[in-house]
Amino acid sequence: MRIVWLLLGSMAVQSCSSKQTDLETEPSQYRLFVLTALRGELEPCGCSLEPLGGLARLTTYLRSRTETGITPLLITHGDLVSPGKVSKGSLPQIKEAGRFLQNQLMNLGLVISGTGEADEELTDLRSVKGMPWLDPNQFKEVHGVQFLRGKITRAINPKRPAILLFDGSLEDAKKQALQLKNQGIDLVIVSKPHDEPAITELAPDLFALIGGQRGQQLLDIDMTWHGDRLIRLEGAGERQVALDAMQTRISGLVKQRDRARVRQKSPALIAARTAQVERAKAQRSELLKTPLPQAPAQVSSLSGQRVPLDSNITEDASMNQAIQKHHQAISQLNKKLEKTRECAENPDPNAAQYIGNLACQGCHPQAYDLWKKTPHAKAWSTLEKKGRTYDYTCIGCHSAGFDEPGGFCRVSEAGDRINVGCESCHGPGSLHVAQAGRGPIRRKVSADGCTKCHHPPHTNTFIYEERLQRVLGPGHMAKP
Ligand code: HEC
Ligand code: HEC
Ligand code: HEC
Ligand code: HEC
Repeated sequence: MRIVWLLLGSMAVQSCSSKQTDLETEPSQYRLFVLTALRGELEPCGCSLEPLGGLARLTTYLRSRTETGITPLLITHGDLVSPGKVSKGSLPQIKEAGRFLQNQLMNLGLVISGTGEADEELTDLRSVKGMPWLDPNQFKEVHGVQFLRGKITRAINPKRPAILLFDGSLEDAKKQALQLKNQGIDLVIVSKPHDEPAITELAPDLFALIGGQRGQQLLDIDMTWHGDRLIRLEGAGERQVALDAMQTRISGLVKQRDRARVRQKSPALIAARTAQVERAKAQRSELLKTPLPQAPAQVSSLSGQRVPLDSNITEDASMNQAIQKHHQAISQLNKKLEKTRECAENPDPNAAQYIGNLACQGCHPQAYDLWKKTPHAKAWSTLEKKGRTYDYTCIGCHSAGFDEPGGFCRVSEAGDRINVGCESCHGPGSLHVAQAGRGPIRRKVSADGCTKCHHPPHTNTFIYEERLQRVLGPGHMAKP
């Protein structure tokens, strides 16, 4: 099998050597930077939690990892532009953001980009010139690396690395591992994020790269290529992670020992705890002394990790400026198109409508006064301060009834439906009010009623029972 591939490979080299670069002189040291499932995320939205991510941190990080003699390959795969379900009226904004994102990524050196399922639904995604899309069943060679996607219909040169952009989950990739290996693939980039290690072995000499999501993590993988089987090596970054974990464990053990001392536990117990600490320390210093493994000569190797783009990484100022300018452009675009913005269809015109908080104040003055003091009542001013009241990706959770049947779909018509209001939790109230408070209204607000807005990445510390107490009080259910 191997021999056949070698023959095919050398034939391929001969037949197109005039056009292609000389493979002997192609680089052999690569640094792969992989973003998966970016989902249009340009920056943390102000309510995001660590790792914050964003293009401005990505820019700083990529710059810090530039090294002469190492060829950088920035790759994206999975949903790049689409955040998921997009209403018709928000499409122009999403497309404009997609264009901005693609241009910025190309400036950062993007060489290959796959798409995801949600992206496929966005028409006009391909309007950006020079964007290096890799379509299913396509083949591209960049800096001597072969990139493939979908069905493998051509002979792969075994002397050069072959990377497959895999559309699907890690489980699916595992099922096809042996077949992919036999076809000559060395490395698979899966389109979906998973919790598995950044470099996961699928089959002997075949590895999958597992990325992060929403630009919060970046894969940073060093690949040394000698044209032979690929092995995985522990790199400096992974070593540091292991050392840090050991240090955390040591601190924990020290605390346990000190507690045992303070509580005057038996000498035997204290001695046992002390021994544990010493053992853990010895293990760590042993690892500190152990040199990083080197690949045997002429064996290709991979090492690297998924790097969280957290607040330890400073944001690049000029990228931030570009993003701010982009937000202004989005506001202008949305204002311009607002008159003709398509609204959600209302399947039942007799169903209740969103009418705003002031309509509730008269009969529920205490509930209203209490609500006024909660952060929900200033959710709109939060957007105002950021100049984002015309950003359709923000409004939904910072108002009541946006893009919903019976709600509003134009900011200029929002009226009193700005802010997270009574109806954000109790649902549309027009029928209730029309019958002087005897008409239907939802009373109970389940955990789901809150987590439709309070969910990651906007928050991941939401505990229903506890947060509930902060929105209830005298006149508004003192105790649930
Ligand atoms: C329509 C979206 C939405 C719904 C529904 C919603 N919230 Fe909020 N909530 C927000 C937003 C947005 C903020 C931040 C407001 C600001 O400061 O700009 C917030 C802030 C809060 C805060 C203050 C910040 C914090 O976490 O301490 C609490 C408490 C809270 N919400 C509780 C709840 C509870 C409990 C429910 C359900 C009964 C709920 N929210 C339903 C959008 C929502
Ligand atoms: C999925 C719902 C959701 C969307 C969409 C959303 N937010 Fe929020 N936002 C929240 C929630 C919930 C909070 C409160 C988080 C908390 O404190 O627990 C919040 C809080 C904030 C805060 C912090 C307010 C404060 O006073 O601390 C800012 C700023 C913010 N959002 C801005 C934005 C911007 C800008 C966008 C659009 C890019 C956006 N949000 C989109 C749900 C959302
Ligand atoms: C963050 C979500 C949220 C918001 C915003 C909210 N409520 Fe409530 N409301 C609740 C919850 C939760 C309950 C308790 C329901 C239960 O457990 O029976 C409740 C109960 C009520 C009740 C029945 C209990 C009582 O004390 O009379 C009324 C009336 C009410 N809300 C009116 C309002 C009005 C008016 C507003 C706006 C000024 C408002 N609510 C805003 C969540 C909310
Ligand atoms: C004309 C007066 C009036 C207006 C306006 C009004 N309500 Fe009520 N509401 C009532 C009355 C009366 C009740 C029944 C109170 C009771 O049974 O103790 C009630 C009950 C409720 C309840 C509890 C329902 C239940 O099943 O226990 C909620 C929630 C509520 N209103 C929310 C709202 C919201 C949200 C608005 C604004 C959209 C609003 N109300 C506007 C008079 C009004």
